[in-house]
Amino acid sequence: MDFSKVIQERRSVKKYDQNVKMTKDEIEKIIEIASLSPSAWNLQQWHYLIVTDEDKKQQLQKCAWNQPKVSEASASIVVLGDLHAYERAGEVAEEWAQKGYVPADGKKGLVDSIYSFYENDQTKRDEAIRGASLAAMSLMLTAKDMGYATCPMIGFDPEAIRKEFNIPQNLIPALMITLGKGEESRERASRRSPKDIITYETF
Ligand SMILES: Cc1cc2nc3c(=O)[nH]c(=O)nc-3n(C[C@H](O)[C@H](O)[C@H](O)COP(=O)(O)O)c2cc1C
Repeated sequence: MDFSKVIQERRSVKKYDQNVKMTKDEIEKIIEIASLSPSAWNLQQWHYLIVTDEDKKQQLQKCAWNQPKVSEASASIVVLGDLHAYERAGEVAEEWAQKGYVPADGKKGLVDSIYSFYENDQTKRDEAIRGASLAAMSLMLTAKDMGYATCPMIGFDPEAIRKEFNIPQNLIPALMITLGKGEESRERASRRSPKDIITYETF
């Protein structure tokens, strides 16, 4: 699909064909492509809780303001951000040195910079949400390109999901995405115009 068409035609779809079940391969293909998203120092803060089992989708729906699309979609995905992604700094430095992005004697300096940047809890949280959100957008566009529909969702209780699905403390739910064969078309709500959202040079 033409790239601008993917952007123009992606919608937040609330109704799904319940007879269409996506395969694990299709879902993993989408995740693999979405993983090409950028992240600070390539730390890849994203992790996905993918729920396809019918009973588990019902449980997830209860944690998501009972929105029916959660169980009607082929898969409902909780996109998680990793507060501890910076602990992979050593692996990043190793690969970057091998690829010549940093000199071999620059590895320690790179690891120190990463740890120092992530000292602050607010930064850890901001970065977890930022990384997960960038990947989530890629996931939605990739799904659209493959003929599937999605809906991003913030209407859920993160602590209820954490408890129900035993999510470790270092992973925070950034948003949920329903994924499946879409079954609706609604007129798109308008967007604010460029003149309302752009400030050139400085405020
Ligand atoms: C972060 C985020 C949270 C959202 N939460 C919900 C939600 O809980 N339930 C829902 O039906 N739609 C949700 N939406 C979908 C928005 O309503 C939708 O993106 C917006 O109205 C624009 O429509 P469009 O995506 O079809 O262009 C959410 C969208 C985003 C980006």
